[in-house]
Amino acid sequence: MSDSPRPSFTYYGHASVRVDFPDGQRWLIDPWVQGNPSCPESLHDLERLDALLVTHSHADHFADAVKIAKRYGPKKIVANFEICTWLTAQGVGNAAAMNLGGSQDVLGHRVTMVRADHSSGLDDDGVHVDGGSASGFIVHTAEDFTFYHAGDTALFSDMQLIASLYRPRLGFVPIGDLFTMGPADAARACRYLGVATVVPIHWGTFPVLTGTPAEFERQVKERELACDVVTLQPGESY
Ligand code: NI
Ligand code: MN
Repeated sequence: MSDSPRPSFTYYGHASVRVDFPDGQRWLIDPWVQGNPSCPESLHDLERLDALLVTHSHADHFADAVKIAKRYGPKKIVANFEICTWLTAQGVGNAAAMNLGGSQDVLGHRVTMVRADHSSGLDDDGVHVDGGSASGFIVHTAEDFTFYHAGDTALFSDMQLIASLYRPRLGFVPIGDLFTMGPADAARACRYLGVATVVPIHWGTFPVLTGTPAEFERQVKERELACDVVTLQPGESY
């Protein structure tokens, strides 16, 4: 519903987003915080954390996972089976494994793991570990607000399926190009997803990520989509 109370979202830079729910819960999607050059130092201390969600195990989404999990002790860590197995082997508790197409209750909210067209290798001290399939997340909150974090992905036409099944109102989509879709495909993704609001992520962290929010905004406008682009600088909230 359009008038459902929604969480507040704080952009930690790159693909990391802190979610503060109306019920007081604090979640983090993609734990790259202390090592994230885009993340303002004032956000390095999360203070508390109820749940941690991991889209895939590349370092720019995952490098601080063990440290954050051990420091804040989230009640649930949601990731694919392979990542959860590795985290458990590192002595991290509360891993709640799932896989593409599945849903689970996370502290009263509904989390669905959805497809992402990407990879998910894990570097364990120079040894390559299978990190399972890269994913995105649909979160349907107890207050009936649905948002989508795409993780790292190319454009895929089944974003239309995600739209028809889950009807997210807000999307976090990568725009940086090279490792994910760039601004033009991200604008096409907005059409497929039918989201009312989109927040661009995965841009500006490294010079090789050439897709910019300005170009993304231009691409969305050119398509005359009924979609507001909300560009957050790292540290800003929506
Ligand atoms: Ni990645
Ligand atoms: Mn990435």
